[in-house]
Amino acid sequence: MGGRPAGALAEEFGTPLVAYCERTVLAAAHAYLGAAPGALVLYGVKAFPNVALLQLLAGEGLGADVSTLGELEYALRAGVPGERLVVHGNNKSDDEVRAAVEAGVHFVVLDALDEVERAAAAGVERVLVRVTPGIEADTHPAIRTAHHGSKFGLPPDQALEAIAAARNAGLEVAGLHLHIGSQLLDTQAARTSVDWLGGFAAECSQELGWAPAVVDLGGGLGIEYAEGDHAPAIADFVTTLLQRLEQAWTLHGLTRPQVILEPGRSLVGRAGVTLYRVGVVKRASETTTYVAIDGGMSDNPRPQLYGARYSALLANRADEEATSSYTVCGKHCESGDVLIESVSLPEPRRGDLLAVPGTGAYTLGMGSNYNAVPRPAAVLVADGQARLIRRRESIDDVLRHEETSG
Ligand code: LLP
Repeated sequence: MGGRPAGALAEEFGTPLVAYCERTVLAAAHAYLGAAPGALVLYGVKAFPNVALLQLLAGEGLGADVSTLGELEYALRAGVPGERLVVHGNNKSDDEVRAAVEAGVHFVVLDALDEVERAAAAGVERVLVRVTPGIEADTHPAIRTAHHGSKFGLPPDQALEAIAAARNAGLEVAGLHLHIGSQLLDTQAARTSVDWLGGFAAECSQELGWAPAVVDLGGGLGIEYAEGDHAPAIADFVTTLLQRLEQAWTLHGLTRPQVILEPGRSLVGRAGVTLYRVGVVKRASETTTYVAIDGGMSDNPRPQLYGARYSALLANRADEEATSSYTVCGKHCESGDVLIESVSLPEPRRGDLLAVPGTGAYTLGMGSNYNAVPRPAAVLVADGQARLIRRRESIDDVLRHEETSG
């Protein structure tokens, strides 16, 4: 990992540990910037809110897409300038809207009709309107966002209403936002939605005499987690969308808008590898042998939430042949705490180091303290040097919010 053996990282920082390869993060960022020159590329902070990663990305010219007060604070502490911040959220609080104004964010993305007045009253200047085209992206239902009936954005007729109302309220409506879902493994739905957006922009132009100067296409590109997954390369995904945009806008005789992209997972997902220490190895039945690790659903709840699949290897014996299939389970008090249903490994032993790749996005950021387990540390590794970017929680951290009478 970034020039450091996994075993040395585990020794120095303990386990579980999420190790990020800096070069992999940078390569993903450069792929976006290279494929979309002139576009504003924003890191979807929810994938892993982390000040050091945000600083790294901001240093390359990226901004941040934030959806809560907390995410905004991460971006501000990382020094991301206001003109590279976009604020989302399907239920923004007044505090969130005010904080966005104070931070001088580039755009607040209107997600509901009632936000028009609230944004204007809070002093918001520039907005985008999030529109929901009614397109079903081919991904897990929990992470689809542009289907008919989605809680996000506005159906087309209401989006038109919001644009008109916002302009009447004195807001500068710079453009439209669209995010159709996450962990997309092909370009099909994304292409369809860009085509649709061109048609909708034309409708806006006819009905309101207004066309979007900015189009924010959201994030969504998936990564390969396990064998059999095939994800488009960043450059291919982005190029396809931009070509489609060009075609759609030309078809409707509209001026090509400035583009914003908001990748989360595809920027940091592949760069992260979680290192766990193997504990109990238990043959539970003729067909199932459990390999228990020192973490589980508290540091990665994705298998439980989305049926997510991962692969793994024994980092300290990576060159040994796999001998059998094992089920990797966590240390939490429920049977559903299974990280990997089936993975081929050399016979695991207590003390082995299990490495699970592709855990850089939506793992630690979605972690919990279930069973009063402290959350793991994270490090950023480059050129043989590892830097702590998130301290391991202590038991005292977990107990910090307790109130007792004694
Ligand atoms: N923009 C908006 C408005 C979003 O809602 C999201 C993600 C992104 C950008 C970044 O999407 P990405 O490039 O990461 O797909 N917890 C789920 C994923 C939830 C995604 C939420 N929105 C998971 O673990 O799969």
